[in-house]
Amino acid sequence: MKEIRILDKKFREMISQDAIQERISQLAQQINNDFRGKEVLFVGILNGAFMFAADMFKRIDLKASISFIKLASYHGTNSTGEIKELIGWNEEITGKNVIILEDIVDTGMTLEGTVHEIVLRKAALVRVASLLLKPDAFTGSIPIDYLGFEIPNNFVVGYGLDYNGYGRNLTSIYSLVR
Ligand code: IMP
Repeated sequence: MKEIRILDKKFREMISQDAIQERISQLAQQINNDFRGKEVLFVGILNGAFMFAADMFKRIDLKASISFIKLASYHGTNSTGEIKELIGWNEEITGKNVIILEDIVDTGMTLEGTVHEIVLRKAALVRVASLLLKPDAFTGSIPIDYLGFEIPNNFVVGYGLDYNGYGRNLTSIYSLVR
């Protein structure tokens, strides 16, 4: 098994480049079938989803556009603690079919915030595609319509995901070795 080091930590390959690409092809095919004849706006969540978004979007065979958003965290008075706020995004989405592209859904907080913002902006329909999900950490209620892989509740890097800013350029997904 391939092992790598990033800063002070060791990681082991968990999902190969080929497996990722094959799964994305399957998800893209599902989306192409589900939205045949319709127009779709894809919305990638920065920073982590840039690779997933690019590889997914290349395989979309629909009338489609893509936009990216970034969420800023701040600590609100809300009981759930951290709230994510969408910053600097002026895309007109009223009446559009929106598919959110996430790299990983962990607790689901990021997704919750994003879907809320998009629903508020009166999208006709909102669907979610995520490459990864950690079911044991997930406390959200929003369904993931197009899911790549379920993974254990362990820290991962690669394919857009980082450890302290590094590792995003890796083409496979690596899991922290404890
Ligand atoms: P959530 O809001 O708890 O679902 O977290 C989602 C965000 O946390 C993702 O978009 C990632 O940026 C980050 N994240 C969660 N788990 C990991 C991980 O294992 N490695 C790297 N980033 C992660």
